[in-house]
Amino acid sequence: PLIPMKLLLDKAIEGKFAYGAFNVHTTNEVKAAIEIHETFRSPVILQVIEFATGFIAGRKDFLKATLEEKIEGIKIISKIIKEEADKTDIPVVLHLDHGHDKELVKACIDEGFTSVMIDGSYLPFEENIALTKEIVDYAHEKGVTVEGELGVLAGREDNANHSGSLYTDPNKVCEFFKKTSVDCLAISYGTSHGAAKGKDVVISKEIAIASYENMKFNKIKGALVSHGSSTVPQYLVEGINSLGGNLNNAHGIPIEQVLEVIPYGIAKINVGTDIRLAITRNVREYFNKNKNIDENSSVGEVKKIIDERPDLIDERVYLYPMYE
Ligand code: 13P
Ligand code: G3H
Ligand code: NA
Ligand code: ZN
Repeated sequence: PLIPMKLLLDKAIEGKFAYGAFNVHTTNEVKAAIEIHETFRSPVILQVIEFATGFIAGRKDFLKATLEEKIEGIKIISKIIKEEADKTDIPVVLHLDHGHDKELVKACIDEGFTSVMIDGSYLPFEENIALTKEIVDYAHEKGVTVEGELGVLAGREDNANHSGSLYTDPNKVCEFFKKTSVDCLAISYGTSHGAAKGKDVVISKEIAIASYENMKFNKIKGALVSHGSSTVPQYLVEGINSLGGNLNNAHGIPIEQVLEVIPYGIAKINVGTDIRLAITRNVREYFNKNKNIDENSSVGEVKKIIDERPDLIDERVYLYPMYE
């Protein structure tokens, strides 16, 4: 069954633990994530990132998808997730990740998402608040949880390139919660999206702890979210490279660092890249083992893309799931 994310956030804060939140784009990823959580008897947070919705709708240059195409993608993936959620006995959260277009965010709420992120982190503080508040008003009326973001992550945040990171100001966190009534807030504290997080990254525990202490002092009930938290397992990187890949400088967040901040209000930890690394490795292995692929099959189509644009995999650090 589907449940609002707020129920899990409250439990996590109370118990000083965190839930993982996993980016999914295809039936196989949805099924795998649910199956693993079933074995742990844990609820699962499945999230769909806005910029991939055009891809889900089948548009190859998905970054240029129109609102209509994105909504089409939302309908496809939410139908898959709802069907799988009906089949399992563990609670499932259907969450929109990095929502930018407020019309798309509202469409997700109408479509039955139980949680949405409105990412106004690229906006000036007051505009971020206004945008977030508008979504909160729309969502809360329907029992839908909302995540906001304050501060900008380094690396490829969404599809823009940020050369540096703009850490979250812990002194602004309470004001943001108060003025928007968001349920949880993504903070920028040294993590980044993608597989090139830096060789010896040290996250700023201080920012998480100071945000949490301020929230406690001001009696604000809310949760913090850690984005860009993939660990980038080296066995996957080496596996990809030994199968013809060319991933340079692929390093993740040392898991110990994330575990250390969890007791300080971090209730949700986002992971996308690690999943795509695993998929990429398996796709490369498949093509290495299977040399005679029918050019006209859907698998043949994927092979053609890889042959023509090997950089697509390596630069993006994953093969966007254009197969299945
Ligand atoms: P990674 O790129 O570290 O997996 O981060 C995922 C994320 O924050 C999605 O919003
Ligand atoms: O699926 C999307 C990701 O989780 C976020 O993007 O990891 O490619 O930066 P990225
Ligand atoms: Na952002
Ligand atoms: Zn993110």
